[in-house]
Amino acid sequence: MNQPLVLGIETSCDETAVGIVKGRTLLANVISSSVEEHARFGGVVPEIASRAHLESIHSVLTRALSEAKVSLTDIDAFGVTAGPGLIGALLVGVSSASGLSLALDKPLYGVNHLSAHLAVDALNSEHKLNPAIGLLVSGGHSSILKVSHFASDVIVIGSTLDDAAGEAFDKIARILKLDFPGGPAIDRIAKDGDALAIDFPRGLTNDADHRYDFSFSGLKTAVSRYLQKIPQAKVADVAASFQEAVVDVLLAKALSAAKSEGIETLIIAGGVAANSRLREVAAQRCGEAGIELRIPPMALCTDNGAMVAALTSLAVSSGAPASSLGLAAESSSGLDRVFWP
Ligand code: KG4
Ligand code: ZN
Repeated sequence: MNQPLVLGIETSCDETAVGIVKGRTLLANVISSSVEEHARFGGVVPEIASRAHLESIHSVLTRALSEAKVSLTDIDAFGVTAGPGLIGALLVGVSSASGLSLALDKPLYGVNHLSAHLAVDALNSEHKLNPAIGLLVSGGHSSILKVSHFASDVIVIGSTLDDAAGEAFDKIARILKLDFPGGPAIDRIAKDGDALAIDFPRGLTNDADHRYDFSFSGLKTAVSRYLQKIPQAKVADVAASFQEAVVDVLLAKALSAAKSEGIETLIIAGGVAANSRLREVAAQRCGEAGIELRIPPMALCTDNGAMVAALTSLAVSSGAPASSLGLAAESSSGLDRVFWP
């Protein structure tokens, strides 16, 4: 089917989101976040997230339909994040999407969250659907993906051995007594600091077995030790030097993957893609390396339903088989599949 009207549901973490696309055109992107309910715990509490999804899914769905000016009966196919994510949270989306698909007799596609993060790039119709390297950096993921085809061939070539990049920002912010979520707080204060003040370690840089993998635990320890040794250290300098280490290692590995795979496009997505220093250094290094840099607009970088709808739309157009109605959510799936059977 050409130009299918697709509704995508995302509930894998703390955002309840519904997006609607027609082909590669975005019609609606509605998000309700429970982030404030988790703030006092310093991280996402799964049970609170699941309850928040249940409370807001209906109104988010209704708002998306009204924003897109379509009715449920117009929808050609439903997409939903089936994994990875928090199991109780995923189940709210999967159950809702299965119910809609059954009631309206329209196909259901269970999609991989990581793949969807990158497929959102297809909503910029000027972008050719060509191969790309994806750098996915958020509170839950730090992965390098090789995308040969958004809807059928995405493989993870690197991931984090411990914390995700956003998690590292959040933990360091806590050590520095800054606000949660820590990424924006570090980004802000780092502007007043010297990124070269402290030479923090770049994890797994010269490890041939982990060329594209990340590890941020050594960096976290290094920052803690530094602060124990020099408690009067300027917070802005520590924040800027920490941020520089993260940005450096993320981009060094992503660009090295692009180079060895002979791929000329880098897509950066996930909440950490908001980081101003990451954007600045990415633009500079991609320019030097002759790599085309794509960073989706911020509302499409963090968790959203439009990315699920975008990936589902590509699947429908390419004739991929729909999932069965017994579609199960899977909390810890990697990227061995883009769609669930
Ligand atoms: O994609 P996202 O909104 O949610 C998931 O993790 O699924 O990403 C949230 C993460 C948080 O860890 C937050 O600290 C980080 O993205 N983040 C940032 C910035 N804005 C958000 N990290 C660094 N710099 C930022 N400006
Ligand atoms: Zn995500």
